[in-house]
Amino acid sequence: MARLPILRFPDPRLHTVAQPVAQVDARIQQLAKDMLETMYAAEGVGLAATQVNVHERVIVMDTSEGRDEPRVLINPELTWTSDAMTDEEEGCLSVPQTYDKVRRHARVKVAALNERGERYEFEAEGLLAVCVQHEMDHLMGKVFVEYLSPLKRERIKTKMLKKTREEQAHGARGRL
Ligand code: NI
Repeated sequence: MARLPILRFPDPRLHTVAQPVAQVDARIQQLAKDMLETMYAAEGVGLAATQVNVHERVIVMDTSEGRDEPRVLINPELTWTSDAMTDEEEGCLSVPQTYDKVRRHARVKVAALNERGERYEFEAEGLLAVCVQHEMDHLMGKVFVEYLSPLKRERIKTKMLKKTREEQAHGARGRL
């Protein structure tokens, strides 16, 4: 297993649209394993392949309290979304130390393939529903800060560029 470097906003590669996975083979299984290791190490609840510069439709998540329920979603699709919306505070491993509220569907139904290539479906609410929508946005090249006002987004961009510059100056790579 290996930890993968996480792209940081405003890296333009975060805006790449991911392609569907043609076959769940050993390469994809290894990618999912590495993404889970990377996500746990960074203390995130979700990670999309886009964030590790692989532009295929793969997501890993774990929203459990015990951090012991890894979930792999390959070629995920929303098959239903509630009319009810929710505004929860979100963060992102590609936008460290930045949190803001985003409007999402309160409940969703998701169909995906697991790491063995088997199709499964589940209904999500709360943090899991928010996480699914956030990660699926990544696969479409969208980062959550794009829902915020242009002013907020510019501030975040400036903050991230400064942080990256400072880390490079110190030869550090942050928590990645
Ligand atoms: Ni994210």
